[in-house]
Amino acid sequence: MSNKLTKTIIDIGISEKDRKAIAKGLSELLADSYSLYLMTHNFHWNVKGPMFNTLHTMFMTQYTEQWAALDLIAERIRALGEPAPGTYKEFSKLTSIKEVDGVPKAMDMVKYLVKAQEATAKTARKLFPLVEKANDQPTADLLTQRQDIHEKTAWMLRSLLEE
Ligand SMILES: [Fe+2]
Repeated sequence: MSNKLTKTIIDIGISEKDRKAIAKGLSELLADSYSLYLMTHNFHWNVKGPMFNTLHTMFMTQYTEQWAALDLIAERIRALGEPAPGTYKEFSKLTSIKEVDGVPKAMDMVKYLVKAQEATAKTARKLFPLVEKANDQPTADLLTQRQDIHEKTAWMLRSLLEE
C-alpha cells in the first residue's frame, strides 16, 4: 500500500486550523454539558419538599437526555481529528458553569439549573459563526439541536418559578 493511503490524513474539506478551533469550542460545550449533567443528576438525588415528585422526575428526564448528548459531542470532536476531554480536571478548566456547594432548596435548584442551561446554550451559540464559516454542517446541526433543547428546558424550568 502506498504511503498516501497508510498515512492518517484527515481530508474532509475543513482545514486543520478550523478543525482544531471547532474541536476546542466543542470541548467547551462538552465541559458545560457534563457540568450541567452532573448538577441535574445531583439535584435529582437530593431534592426535597412538596415538589419532590415533579422535580425528581423532571430532573431524571433532563439528565438522561444530557447523558446521551455527551457522546454525540465527544464523537464529533473525534471525527474532526482531535482528542475529546474526559477528565474532571479538563472539564473544570473548560466549563463556564460554577459548581454548587451543599444542597440548595428545591426552587434554588431550579434557579441554578436555569442559569446552567442558559450558559450551555450560550457556549453552543458562541461557536456557530466559526462553524458556518468552515462549512461544517454536522457540527452546525449538533449545535442547533443543543441550543434548542437547552433553551426549551430553560423555559420549562423558568416556568416553575413564575406565578
Ligand atoms: Fe434515580
